[in-house]
Formats: sequence, C-alpha cells, structure tokens
Amino acid sequence: MKSNKIIDMEQVSFKYEKEWVVEKVDLVIERGQFLGLVGPNGSGKSTLIKLMLGIIKPDRGTVRLFDQPIKQFNQWQEVGFVSQKANSFNSGFPATVLEVVKTGLVSRIGAFKFFNRKHKEKALEALKTVEMDEYANSNIGELSGGQQQRVFIARALVSDPSLLILDEPTVGVDAKHVTAFYDLLRKLNKEKGISLLMVTHDIGTITQHATHVVCMNKTVHFHGASEEYKEFDDQDLNRLYGHSVQQLTHNHEHGVSQ
Ligand SMILES: Nc1ncnc2c1ncn2[C@@H]1O[C@H](COP(=O)(O)OP(=O)(O)OP(=O)(O)O)[C@@H](O)[C@H]1O
Ligand SMILES: [Mg+2]
Repeated sequence: MKSNKIIDMEQVSFKYEKEWVVEKVDLVIERGQFLGLVGPNGSGKSTLIKLMLGIIKPDRGTVRLFDQPIKQFNQWQEVGFVSQKANSFNSGFPATVLEVVKTGLVSRIGAFKFFNRKHKEKALEALKTVEMDEYANSNIGELSGGQQQRVFIARALVSDPSLLILDEPTVGVDAKHVTAFYDLLRKLNKEKGISLLMVTHDIGTITQHATHVVCMNKTVHFHGASEEYKEFDDQDLNRLYGHSVQQLTHNHEHGVSQ
C-alpha cells in the first residue's frame, strides 16, 4: 500500500558555502496536512523548500517525494510552488493574467507544444478557484500585489497538484486580503484535498489555520499540531527558536485574525 508521506526528509543537511544552513532535518509531511513553516530570517526555510523541490541537492541525507527518491521523481505536476519573490511583475510586463496561468501547464505539456483550448479552460478554472477569472485578459503588471499573488496561486494550481508549497505568500498583502487568502487556502485544503506547506512569519495567524506547525532554525526545533504550538508561552518560543520572538508572539496575543 502507498504510504501517506508526500514529503519525507531524513537527516538532510546543506551548505551553500562553509556553514551549514540546513542541518540534520527530519521532516515528514502527510497527505491532507496544512503545515506552517516558521523560523527567523535566514533560518533556512526557503533553502529547505529548494531541497524539497530538487532545485538544490542535499550534501547529506535523503529527500523522498510521494514515496520516491527525489532523483527518480518525475511527476512534478503534482507539486505546485509559489516562490517568495513571485509578486514582482512591474506594470510593463507584457503578459495577460491568462497567459501567466497557462505557463503553469508547461511541465505537463512540454515547453514546445502549443496550448490548446482545453488548456485555456483549465487556466480559467484555476482563475475561478482564486476568484480572479474576471481579470483573465488584464495585464498582469496592472494588478495589485495581492491580486498578483492569487494569479500565481492559480498558476501553481493549474496542473491539479496534490501538494502546494507557498513561500511567504502574504507579504505585502493587506489585512483584509490576508483573511480572504487564508479562506482560499482552507478551501483548497478541505474541499480539494490539496496538502499545503506554507512559509510565514505570521505565527499568530498560521496557527489559526494550519493543522501542523514546524519551527526551524537550521534544524527542526518543533513539529506538531497547531493546537500544541498555541499553548507555548514566550519562554518556550525563545527556547525553540534560540532567540527572542517576542514581537511575533505579541501579535498573537492581540489576535491578528480575530
Ligand atoms: N544562494 C545563496 N548563496 C549563499 N548563501 C545563501 C543563498 N541563499 C541563502 N543563503 C544563506 O542561507 C541562509 C538561509 O537562507 P534562507 O533563504 O533559506 O532563509 P529563510 O529562512 O528563508 O529566511 P527569510 O525568512 O529571510 O526568507 C542565510 O544565511 C542566507 O544568507
Ligand atoms: Mg525565505
């Protein structure tokens, strides 16, 4: 029987130069989970994601995706990714929203085949999911940051992935739209059964929505249910991170999403 592990990292270590940036990470993500990945700046979160996506290779340890060693894994359409710097198109960028979303199909149809009508329908369907279909023919650069972010999610969704990885997708999105954004993620997780991994600095909000939280600083300091994480006080969190995160827990106390 197939296991439920969609990501399985064992003792993964990585360095760009001399120093370990990711060190001895053990991390399992199971089907259906909504996992929040938190940690201070420079703690290796984006690097860990690059390791999961095979963009970089671990110096030590193993990465498995959907029960296969990453080297053999070839079903990349199963994995949607929205990167940390996704929403950076300026107003002059010459592509419509629909065109941007269709580029998400490239891994499925191959870069040199033509897009057909079915692909257009898939792209429109993905735009509908993120409630951006009415902007299909708008120029991507003319949208607000939050709207662009939705379009990037549509692009990641267009190949019907079963795992969606988002690296700080709410940066630059205002409070009202952050709430709507989390509602969208909840819908993807609960209604479409898509597993989610989201990097964020907003601990207060992520613990309200994610099923699980991973707290890392080079290595994993905590991995457990959100409920368990919510019970921690400042002292526990300082211990977990290895330095003060008071400012962030402060937000939590005032109930960002309440
Ligand atoms: N391409 C690179 N070459 C060399 N060092 C890098 C590279 N990318 C990241 N680093 C270093 O690796 C460490 C981890 O960076 P990473 O981007 O993974 O952190 P992060 O947890 O995502 O931080 P943030 O919250 O600021 O996004 C940092 O010290 C960073 O300077
Ligand atoms: Mg990062």
